[in-house]
Amino acid sequence: MRIAVYGGSFNPPHLGHVAAARAAIEALRPDRLLVMPTNTPPHKQLERNSPSPAERLKLCRLAFGEIPGAEVSDLEIRRKGKSYTADTVAALREKYPDAELCLVMGTDMFLSFRSWSRWQAILEACTLAVMSREEDDREAIGRFKAELEADCGAHVELISHRPLPMSSTEIRERLRHRRGAEELPGAVYERVIRKRFYGARSELSWLRQTVRPYLRDERVPHVEGVESTAVRLAERWGADPDDAAEAGILHDVTKAQGKEKQLKLCKKYGIMLETAEIENPALLHALTGAALAKDRLA
Ligand SMILES: [Fe+2]
Repeated sequence: MRIAVYGGSFNPPHLGHVAAARAAIEALRPDRLLVMPTNTPPHKQLERNSPSPAERLKLCRLAFGEIPGAEVSDLEIRRKGKSYTADTVAALREKYPDAELCLVMGTDMFLSFRSWSRWQAILEACTLAVMSREEDDREAIGRFKAELEADCGAHVELISHRPLPMSSTEIRERLRHRRGAEELPGAVYERVIRKRFYGARSELSWLRQTVRPYLRDERVPHVEGVESTAVRLAERWGADPDDAAEAGILHDVTKAQGKEKQLKLCKKYGIMLETAEIENPALLHALTGAALAKDRLA
């Protein structure tokens, strides 16, 4: 049995990670690819407003769950503390004594491999599967591969893969500026927005699309008009036009709902009603719309 391990902090997992996982499966043909989110990376601090390890695990399940042959492992997160690969490899060795373990890594990680904690133990237990780009320094990689093989009896496989040009660090920054939807798997983006991870703000085109199923057809031109008027007012009075657009897009999100549903939403979101509101259910969409938008969309 061949088990490939693809570790990382996945903060958040993006489409580049998904493509790399697919490329590793394609090249290595493992019986299983274990995607392994770190609990705490040994050499870097996760940004302060990063989601908890358990939340990153959920995001990984959303990102990699659909890939045949991939499985998200909670091994490092359950172990808590700093996530040393040597510990992970030892645990997997014990769990799968007869399996061939392949550790998937990028070229930067590979070239710094001798600085990893207990790297010799890792080499004894694993094949290293290095994803190298065409434009990488093939000579340096080849030299280091030969060196590890000769000195330590290492097994190193090279996987040719051109990574998508994206990084979690840049995506976190873009999320704060209402960008990044196209770099994340849809379900990951939705959860990031809903949970407000990384201080993310929703991308307006994503928001329009997401709100559309909530609206009756005849309501759409009105909502578009409110959005553009809100933007013009914001520009006129020095408010943030994107915030105004967001409010316009969302303002009628529960307008299509009847009295029963409105009352249900009030109960769900703990909205206290006055007699006038109960007697005029048309007033309720302002309250329920704001609560639903805050909970699910913005
Ligand atoms: Fe309206």
